[in-house]
Amino acid sequence: MSFTVAIDGPAAAGKGTISKGVAAHFGFAHLDTGLLYRAVGRRTLEGMAPIAAAKALTAEELARGDLRTAEIAQSASKVAVIPEVRAALIDFQRSFACRAGGAVLDGRDIGTVICPNAEVKLFVTASSEVRAERRYLELSAKGADVTPDQVLTDVRERDVRDAERSTAPMKPADDAVLLDTSDLSIEDALAKAVAFIAEKLPATS
Ligand code: CDP
Repeated sequence: MSFTVAIDGPAAAGKGTISKGVAAHFGFAHLDTGLLYRAVGRRTLEGMAPIAAAKALTAEELARGDLRTAEIAQSASKVAVIPEVRAALIDFQRSFACRAGGAVLDGRDIGTVICPNAEVKLFVTASSEVRAERRYLELSAKGADVTPDQVLTDVRERDVRDAERSTAPMKPADDAVLLDTSDLSIEDALAKAVAFIAEKLPATS
């Protein structure tokens, strides 16, 4: 039986950590859909046409090197505006969502476009300052040469591009539950998500 948890929200809101934690807690599979767009964004930086890169995406490409850099994030949000890029990635995401045993997908349009019938939809958010601070700590811990101001500008630019594009803009689904993590520790945010999902799981006899 499939059970889909859709977790959407802006950059560095905590979606990734919450999704991984939820998947580990319930034994669900997890797909970080941002990695698909990041892989296409990286191919584009390397000179490939974005639509061709999306159509040719493979599991090996997702596993190649570090996709979580600031440069690739910007490129990802630019290619994510192109409808044919998004269309090329839909089938893979939907098949993942339907797998037996439960799946968590995190991204921008999971609850609205990819899995409109998901059993659980969360929209995770936080102030742009808090998100930029978290992302700055993450990137600088990996040795990236970034300043807090650059990261804040990057996060805000992507928020605007992601929310204003015409195809699958980032927005909460009408039936999504909002989780603002600005003043929550990651443990508290995860505990809230787990409690909410536990309520929606079918009762086992
Ligand atoms: O980790 P972070 O939230 O910074 O970004 P990400 O989830 O890895 O996504 C990178 C970019 O891919 C986003 O800024 C979006 O433009 C795009 N994306 C999207 O359009 N739709 C998704 N379902 C996931 C990501």
